[in-house]
Amino acid sequence: MYDPLSFKIKPSPVILGIESSCDETAAAVVRGRELLSSEIISSAEEQAKYGGVVPEIASRAHIDAVDEVVKRALAGAGVSADGIDGVAVTYGAGLLGALLVGLSFAKGLAYSLGVPLIGVNHIRGHLAAAYLSDPDLKPPYITLLASGGHTAILYTKSALSFKTLAATCDDAAGEAFDKVARVLGLPYPGGVNVEKLALGGKCSVKLPSALVRNAERAQFSYSGLKTAVINAVHNAAQRGEELAREDIACSFQHSAVDALVKKTVEFAVAYGADTVTAGGGVAANGYLRDSLSALCRKAGIRCILPEKKFCTDNAAMIAQEGLTQYLAGNFSPLSLNARAQIPLG
Ligand code: KG4
Ligand code: ZN
Repeated sequence: MYDPLSFKIKPSPVILGIESSCDETAAAVVRGRELLSSEIISSAEEQAKYGGVVPEIASRAHIDAVDEVVKRALAGAGVSADGIDGVAVTYGAGLLGALLVGLSFAKGLAYSLGVPLIGVNHIRGHLAAAYLSDPDLKPPYITLLASGGHTAILYTKSALSFKTLAATCDDAAGEAFDKVARVLGLPYPGGVNVEKLALGGKCSVKLPSALVRNAERAQFSYSGLKTAVINAVHNAAQRGEELAREDIACSFQHSAVDALVKKTVEFAVAYGADTVTAGGGVAANGYLRDSLSALCRKAGIRCILPEKKFCTDNAAMIAQEGLTQYLAGNFSPLSLNARAQIPLG
C-alpha cells in the first residue's frame, strides 16, 4: 500500500488504464500524455449471437481476458509492472458485474505494487479521448458526447470540471442507432452497420429532428425518431411497398446527427470556445465526423476528433483521464465500489 502522506506526485507518470464497463476488456499505458500502448479483447462477436450484450457473458469474458490484456499492454509499452506509477480503472457507469472484474483486478494490482488506485468515470474517459489526438489540448472547450448510454453537449471549463449544456431527455443517440439497426434487420453492433447501409442510400424519408422544439433549454429526444423509423417500415410493409432500407438508414442518420452537430457548434460560438471535441461510440460515425468538422471549419473553430478506435470503448481514454486525476492528487480508496450509473455532473 502506498503512503499518502509521503507520496510525491510525478509530473510525467506511467499510468496503466483498465476498462471493463461493457463488452470490451481493455488496457493501455500512458507516460504523461504520450500513449505507449492500447489493447482490447472484445466479446462483441459472442454477444452478436444474442443480438446485444448479455451481462453475464460479458462478466465471464472479462474474467478470462483481463490478465492477458494487461500483460499485452505492458509488453507493448515496454514497461514492467514495477514501472507503473498509478492504476486507473473505470468504476462506472456500466454493467455492474463487468465493472467489478476490472475494478477488482486494478485494486489488487495497485495494492501489490504500492501505487495509487484512480477510479475513473467512464464518461470523463470519453471526454479525455480528445487528448489522444491533441496532447496539448487545454480547456475551455465544448464536447459533443454521444455514446450508447449518454448524449450531451458539455462545456469543459477546467481539467476537473464540466457543465452539461444540453442532453437527451430519453434514449441516447447510440441506443437509437442500435434499435434502428434491429428494425432494419442489421446485426449487433448496430451503429456501425447502420452507417455502412446508409452509404448506399438517399436521404429521402421524412423523419423528425432529434432536437426538441420549444424546450426551455436545448434538449434532444431519440424515442420519437426511433418510433418514426419503426412506423415508416411498418406502414410500407402494410401497403406492400418496397422501402429501400438504405434510404431509411441514411435519413435516420441525418436526423440523429444533424441537430447534435448544429447545436454543438452554436454552443461553441455562444461560449466563445475556440475548440470543439467529440467522444463516445457515435463519434466514430463518418457522417457525424465530416459534418462536425465542416461546420467547425465554417465557424473558424478547431475540431479535435479522437481516432475512431478511441471513440468506442477503450482503455487509452481511461489512462488519459487517470493522468488528469493523478496530477490533481485525486486517488481512490481500495474500498471503491463499482456503480452502474453516475450522473453526468
Ligand atoms: O461509447 P461506446 O462504445 O459505449 C458506451 O459507453 O455506450 O458507444 C457504443 C455506441 C453503440 O450504441 C454503437 O451502436 C454506437 O456507439 N456506435 C456508432 C458507431 N460506432 C459505434 N453509432 C453510429 N455510427 C458508428 N460508426
Ligand atoms: Zn463508452
